[in-house]
Amino acid sequence: MGPRARAVCSLFILLQVLAAPAANSDFYLAGDYLLGGLFSLHANMKGIVHLNFLQVPQCKKYEIKVLGYNLLQAMRFAVEEINNRSSLLPGVLLGYEMVDVCYVSNNVQPVLYFLAREDYSLPIQEDYSHYVPRVVAVIGPDNSESTTTVAHFLSLFLLPQITYSAISDDLRDKQRFPALLRTVSGADHQIEAMVQLLLHFRWNWVIVLVSSDDYGRYNSQLLSERLAPRDICIAFQETLPTLQPSQEVTPWERQRLEAIVGKIQQSSARIVVLFSPDLVLYNFFREVLRQNFTGAVWIASESWAIDPVLHNLTGLHDTGTFLGITTQSVPIPGFSEFRMRPAQAGPPAPNRTNLGATCNQECDRCQDTTASFNAILTLSGERVVYSVYAAVYAVAHALHSVLSCTQTCSKEVVYPWQLLQEIWKVNFTLLGHEIFFDKQGDLLMSLEVIQWQWDLSQNPFLSIASYHPALRQLKTVRNVSWHTANNTIPVSMCSKDCQPGQKKKPVGIHPCCFECLDCLPGTFLNQTADEFDCQPCPSCAWSHRNDTSCFKRRLAFLEWHEASTIFVAMLSALGFFSTLTIVVVFWRHLHTPVVRSAGGPMCFLMLAPLLLAYAMVPMYVGQPTFFTCLCRQTFFTLCFTICISCITVRSFQIVCIFKMARRLPGAYSYWVRYHGPYVFVASFTVLKVVIVVSNVLTMSANPTARADPDDPKIIILSCNYRKALLFNTSLDLLLSVAGFSFAYMGKELPTNYNEAKFITFCMTFYFTSSVSLCTFMSVYEGVLVSILDLLVTVLNLLGISLGYFGPKCYMILFYPERNTQGYFSSMIQGYTMRKD
Ligand SMILES: *[C@@H]1O[C@H](CO)[C@@H](O)[C@H](O)[C@H]1NC(C)=O
Ligand SMILES: *[C@@H]1O[C@H](CO)[C@@H](O)[C@H](O)[C@H]1NC(C)=O
Ligand SMILES: *[C@@H]1O[C@H](CO)[C@@H](O)[C@H](O)[C@H]1NC(C)=O
Ligand SMILES: *[C@@H]1O[C@H](CO)[C@@H](O)[C@H](O)[C@H]1NC(C)=O
Ligand SMILES: *[C@@H]1O[C@H](CO)[C@@H](O)[C@H](O)[C@H]1NC(C)=O
Ligand SMILES: *[C@@H]1O[C@H](CO)[C@@H](O)[C@H](O)[C@H]1NC(C)=O
Ligand SMILES: *[C@@H]1O[C@H](CO)[C@@H](O)[C@H](O)[C@H]1NC(C)=O
Ligand SMILES: *[C@@H]1O[C@H](CO)[C@@H](O)[C@H](O)[C@H]1NC(C)=O
Ligand SMILES: *[C@@H]1O[C@H](CO)[C@@H](O)[C@H](O)[C@H]1NC(C)=O
Repeated sequence: MGPRARAVCSLFILLQVLAAPAANSDFYLAGDYLLGGLFSLHANMKGIVHLNFLQVPQCKKYEIKVLGYNLLQAMRFAVEEINNRSSLLPGVLLGYEMVDVCYVSNNVQPVLYFLAREDYSLPIQEDYSHYVPRVVAVIGPDNSESTTTVAHFLSLFLLPQITYSAISDDLRDKQRFPALLRTVSGADHQIEAMVQLLLHFRWNWVIVLVSSDDYGRYNSQLLSERLAPRDICIAFQETLPTLQPSQEVTPWERQRLEAIVGKIQQSSARIVVLFSPDLVLYNFFREVLRQNFTGAVWIASESWAIDPVLHNLTGLHDTGTFLGITTQSVPIPGFSEFRMRPAQAGPPAPNRTNLGATCNQECDRCQDTTASFNAILTLSGERVVYSVYAAVYAVAHALHSVLSCTQTCSKEVVYPWQLLQEIWKVNFTLLGHEIFFDKQGDLLMSLEVIQWQWDLSQNPFLSIASYHPALRQLKTVRNVSWHTANNTIPVSMCSKDCQPGQKKKPVGIHPCCFECLDCLPGTFLNQTADEFDCQPCPSCAWSHRNDTSCFKRRLAFLEWHEASTIFVAMLSALGFFSTLTIVVVFWRHLHTPVVRSAGGPMCFLMLAPLLLAYAMVPMYVGQPTFFTCLCRQTFFTLCFTICISCITVRSFQIVCIFKMARRLPGAYSYWVRYHGPYVFVASFTVLKVVIVVSNVLTMSANPTARADPDDPKIIILSCNYRKALLFNTSLDLLLSVAGFSFAYMGKELPTNYNEAKFITFCMTFYFTSSVSLCTFMSVYEGVLVSILDLLVTVLNLLGISLGYFGPKCYMILFYPERNTQGYFSSMIQGYTMRKD
């Protein structure tokens, strides 16, 4: 088989001559280059049945599709305009050949017709690069199903095909459809615009109704994929029954429609999205009207958004608000007048009358029907019409390049693949819009959201918002006149939004359906993070019921202005000044027997820490810090230990001087020689320092915060020495018990040596108060602990100051006659005599 021998065999496709040849048909215009046009002038859902018998389907038997004829006229208009304007294709006459595909019924035959040669033959060849089919490019058809079928044929020949309203995104696959381009935005954008519309009006509970064909299935699938991440739920989805070829409503179909409309009425969803060819919807809306259903918002897919016939259905405006997604309107000057213009006598169609035109190139009633809708079509403006218009112009611009037109064009043979290459490259401005195809062969036209109106003088499809594919955003949403009382925006939510601070509890499977539960105190709802769970507040914060954030808890600690604090402060001031007085008095009577019997210089060892301890009382008031906690935990207890150990050693000494000196003179001299009392005090102080330092090292001195068990709004700030307290006081307790015992033993000593009463009292008070404080602290946490702690401490200090030193001062100041060596000697003698 030689390379040039292209014709191996020829397949003659004889398309039946059903229609009488019409020289001046709307469907045919002779020209140097022909464009194929595929439009749905009639519509029928069932296409497959016709493959059962050997006949080409006769479109004229079906219902007229008004918009189809409008689009056909748009192509005629564009071609005529191009021919009129000599600038684009000077000296070239563009012709067309258009066929009615009646939706999906008749799409194979026209393609074969377009692909065949003048003599109606379609040769089988090895190489089609020099094959010249009847048409150079095909415009259409309108729906994705037909477009796919047609594209499979045309792709074999790389014959350019530009569809004006097939939105399926499968068509973007250029591996499968290398020769297919679009002048309409794809389903991706159509659906996105619809989703944005739902989001804009905060509708999250929608019903989806679909036709039982590819269109319905594909788009509803896409929609549900897009809705899920947007938190919009589909209440239910139903498939509308397929229309019978006879277009009659069967009982089964009626039953089905009744059930669907009934279900919509039952549902709480008020938004109904309908993906279906217009054809299927007449019966549906008739059923809606029959059931007097009202109050819905019907959202139209592009397939029926601007259908004038459906719009004219009597009473439809009572069923609710109609919104739709469609392509933007671009006014085309002169088209409205052209729409009703019948074909004029053109140049005779050469050889056409011989074999006759193809079938389905006729529409007797189109003119009349369109005429009756002329007003509404004129008011609607040019939407899809512009897509057809742009498609024709794109081919013309590509031809302009192929024919290298300047002053005039060279009328050479144009191979389809040559033209296809140029169509991909076109970039021109048409009526203010830039026309070029993106990598997937799409022309990104803006979309519009329209509202149906029944006001006779206005655009029946009024634009209320626009969507630009590049931005993927709905813009400038204008007022919608809702079919509701007071024109309020209809609400369609499965559950009303929760009040702030309430969490959602899912009900059923839909995330849009939920109960609202209050967030409990101490938890809050962070809507951005999780709407279904209340989060606990951080430990330093708290929240009320229904809160969306936590507030800082009020810090509680001892404050100066509180009565209890003032009281304790006054006590400690009293203690401080009385201790200071004692120091002065003792200093001045340092060598008197009373002072000596009280311990002499050792008294100052007790008084100095006492003074220091009083001076440290302010450390207990105010917000605890590391420093104040450290002071409380170390210096304060240290002062106290020194005091107590002094008292203990003192009471020990008093007992022992009388008892030990007599019975164990050796030990006594030892005790005196090595400054026993000081060694004793020093060793206990060192022991205490060790305890305190180990406490500080094991437990940080930082203040701790704890919630008040009675009032969670309050957080108690306290020093972290509760655990250390018992450990800390144990040494002091030991000393106090020892001191108490010694004092008890010396209770029969001479009264001026007899501090037993006071020491017993002090030590008993200290012991009991410490033990009860520890017990209290272990069961109760609160500010009360701090004040009690302080009060007990100050009382203990006062006990020592006033209880131990007070009586001696009293004696020094008011009974100086008893403060003599003689008096003391007589007392001791008296005691010794009584003993003996
Ligand atoms: C083309 O030119 C003819 C004759 O001038 C005119 O009647 C017709 O309206 C024009 N058509 C268009 C589409 O401009
Ligand atoms: C609808 O309304 C009409 C007139 O108001 C009434 O005759 C008809 O029975 C109603 N249809 C239904 C299904 O309620
Ligand atoms: C018309 O047909 C004749 C023969 O039937 C042929 O010679 C002629 O080229 C044809 N014209 C066109 C334009 O195809
Ligand atoms: C609209 O519907 C009414 C009532 O069914 C009908 O009389 C009228 O002719 C229709 N309009 C068009 C333009 O068909
Ligand atoms: C189309 O042409 C204009 C200028 O003529 C240019 O700015 C623009 O980038 C072109 N667009 C594309 C897609 O090539
Ligand atoms: C939209 O509605 C508001 C309030 O009803 C009104 O003030 C405003 O004029 C309306 N805008 C348009 C464009 O109709
Ligand atoms: C409509 O508005 C009127 C008066 O402002 C009010 O009484 C009535 O309740 C409103 N109706 C609805 C459904 O909001
Ligand atoms: C809520 O959650 C978001 C995201 O997790 C976070 O950025 C934000 O800070 C949170 N807000 C509060 C008040 O916790
Ligand atoms: C929490 O919000 C719900 C709903 O608004 C309300 O009924 C309830 O009284 C609120 N509770 C509090 C404590 O405010």
